[in-house]
Amino acid sequence: MKRSVIDITDLTKEEIDRLTDTANDIINDPEKYAHICAGKKLATLFFEPSTRTRMSFEAAMYELGGAVLSMTDAASSSASKGESVSDTAKVISCYADIIAMRHPKEGAAYVASNAASVPVINAGDGGHCHPTQTLADLLTIKREKGGFSGLTVGLCGDLKFGRTVHSLIQALSRYDDIRLVLISPEELRLPDYVYNDVILKNRMKCTQTTDLLWALPKLDVLYMTRVQRERFFNEEDYLRLKDSYILTPEKLFLAKRDMIVMHPLPRVNEISVAIDDDPRACYFEQVKNGKYMRMALILKLLRENGAITY
Ligand code: CP
Repeated sequence: MKRSVIDITDLTKEEIDRLTDTANDIINDPEKYAHICAGKKLATLFFEPSTRTRMSFEAAMYELGGAVLSMTDAASSSASKGESVSDTAKVISCYADIIAMRHPKEGAAYVASNAASVPVINAGDGGHCHPTQTLADLLTIKREKGGFSGLTVGLCGDLKFGRTVHSLIQALSRYDDIRLVLISPEELRLPDYVYNDVILKNRMKCTQTTDLLWALPKLDVLYMTRVQRERFFNEEDYLRLKDSYILTPEKLFLAKRDMIVMHPLPRVNEISVAIDDDPRACYFEQVKNGKYMRMALILKLLRENGAITY
């Protein structure tokens, strides 16, 4: 039975723990993994712009000894002639052993996974979710903070459209004793379906505020996000909200000395570049961790699909 990962809940907590163990092992001994995927192909189907996710998937497959087929732009594919996501997934299954797909429409990766005969990994579907970014985030928190229990995690910015936040909250809901502080303008609050179905259902401790300065001293992790211009219907609203939160060295002075600053990137204005050299800034480490977790996930899905043994 083919196994895909569309939502972070497609992986159990134990599976995520094993993926982080594999990623740590890859970091410590990359040569051990350098040829496992020889002769196998990853197709990256990106119907929406990306730098990190696509290139880290591709780097991941190369570092496992495999090859990559890349579609970087919907306009240069037959999607521009009206080909459906299902047909595209069926066709690419004839060429590749595994597919990573990004699409602007929520649910597109799920549709692709139902049509494909090879595993599909959701690389971001509209404002819905982004499970492999969450894997990168979890590895970063685990490596930097040693675990999850007892942490107060602040999520700041565009919590409405920020798909990475939706997936991360879902993942954190499985760990004990986590406190969330949701920091956003009223108009960009977390959607009800995440708040009710994840936070309330799992009885997570959670506070909502518009005030980053009030929240900062309480946090162990601050996860900043970009206001997602591409999801707004109205440019005026975007311009009014885009600079709601800008983390500067002066503001960071209020934070704990061991708080970590995360961001899925790309950043626009939310974090001053003056913070990049602060030891608490972890966002470029997050980028590296994303590649290792994607390597671990590719290995897992190809092995479960019988395409590799190791
Ligand atoms: N974090 C992230 O998804 O970045 P890209 O849009 O560049 O892939």
